[in-house]
Amino acid sequence: METIYLDFRNHENGEKKDLTKAVEALQNGELVIMPTETVYGLGADGLQSKAVRKIFEAKGRKQDNPLILHVADRNMIDQVAVVTSQMEEKLIQAFMPGPLTIILQKKECVPDEVTAGNDTVGIRMPSDEIAHQLIQELGRPIAAPSANLSGKPSGTLMEDIDQGLKQKVAVLIDGGQSRIGLESTVVKVIDGIPTILRPGRVTLEEIQKVCGKGEIDSHIFQQIQKQDEKVESPGMKYRHYAPKTKCRMIYSQDPVWMVQGMKSEIQKANQEGKKILVLALSEDLEKYQTEKIEDILDMGKRENLEEVSNRIFTLLRKVDHYGADLVLIEGVRKEGLGLAIMNRLIRACEYDYREIEKREE
Ligand code: TXA
Ligand code: MG
Repeated sequence: METIYLDFRNHENGEKKDLTKAVEALQNGELVIMPTETVYGLGADGLQSKAVRKIFEAKGRKQDNPLILHVADRNMIDQVAVVTSQMEEKLIQAFMPGPLTIILQKKECVPDEVTAGNDTVGIRMPSDEIAHQLIQELGRPIAAPSANLSGKPSGTLMEDIDQGLKQKVAVLIDGGQSRIGLESTVVKVIDGIPTILRPGRVTLEEIQKVCGKGEIDSHIFQQIQKQDEKVESPGMKYRHYAPKTKCRMIYSQDPVWMVQGMKSEIQKANQEGKKILVLALSEDLEKYQTEKIEDILDMGKRENLEEVSNRIFTLLRKVDHYGADLVLIEGVRKEGLGLAIMNRLIRACEYDYREIEKREE
C-alpha cells in the first residue's frame, strides 16, 4: 500500500488543516496513524467492524483487549455510550476534552470488536487539535490504541513508530512530539467510586478533588499471575512497555539511599561482568561519574515530573541500542503524575523492582 504522509509538525494553533486524505481513508475502512496529546494512535472508523479488526492484526494485539473510542464532543459520547451516574458526569465535565478515558455502558451500535465483547466501552475526547478535527470531519468516533506493536513502548514521535506498522496504514499524520507523552488515565466508576485502572496525566489527587473520592485498582502495581484472573482492564494482564534489554528499578524515598542502592547494584553487576546502562534523574547524574557503566541517560528533573513523563517512552525505546546486559532505573515518588510514571517503568522492568526502606551499609 502507498502510504500518504501529512506533515503538520510546524502547524499553527487554530489553523485548519487539510485532513481530507485521512478522512477518506477512514471512510474506506483503512487505518491511519494520528497524533493525540498523550501518544500517537493507530486509528480506524470505530463503527466499522472490519476496519477495527485491522487494528488488532496490525498491532498483534490480543483479541480480548478492548479499544478506546475517541469522540469529538459530548453528543458523540451519547451516540455510543450511556452516562448512568452523576459521578461519571462530573468526570466528563471536569476532564474532557483531555487525557482521560472513562469506561461507560456501551450502546448497541458499538461493534463487539471494539469492546472485546464487553458491555462497556472506553471513551476519550482528545484535546489535540488535529485529533479533534479528524474525528469531527469523519463525524464518527475513531477507535485507536497506542501506535506501537503490542508489548512495546508507545510512540510519542512519528520517527519512533515501527516501520512495519507504518506500512500497514493508509495515512500518517505527523503532528510532532506528543505533548504529554504518556497514555490517558483510564477510570471506571465502580460502586460509586471513580477507580483508576491505568494511571496517567489526570492524577488520582485531581479526581479526588473533583469527585470527593477516588481509588486506584489494586492491580496497577501487581503482577497478574494467572492469565485467566478477572481484572477490570484486560490491558493490565499483558507484558507492556518493555525493551528487549533486561531492566531493574531501584527506588527509595530518600534520594541519597536510592543512589546508594543503585551503586551497590552496579558494583554487583560489575563483578558479574555485566554491561550496565543507567537511567537517572537529572539531579543524580553526576553522582554516577565514578561508576563503571556503559552510559547514563537523563530522565529529567525530580521536581519536574511532566518532563520525566515526557521522556520515558523515548528513553525506553533507546536503551536497546547500547548493547547493555542490564538497565538500572531510578524511581520517583508514587504521587501525582509520579504514579503513572512508576506504573510504566515498573512494567518496563517486568516488575523487577526493589524499594529500599533504610540505608544500606
Ligand atoms: O492516551 C491513550 O489512551 C492512547 C491514545 C491513542 O488515545 N490510547 C491508548 O489505547 O493507550 P490502548 O489501547 O493502548 O490502551 C487502552 C487501555 C487498555 O489497557 C485497555 O485494556 C483499556 O484501556 N480498556 C479499553 N476499553 C476498556 C473497557 N471497556 N474496560 C476496561 N478497560 C478498557
Ligand atoms: Mg497501548
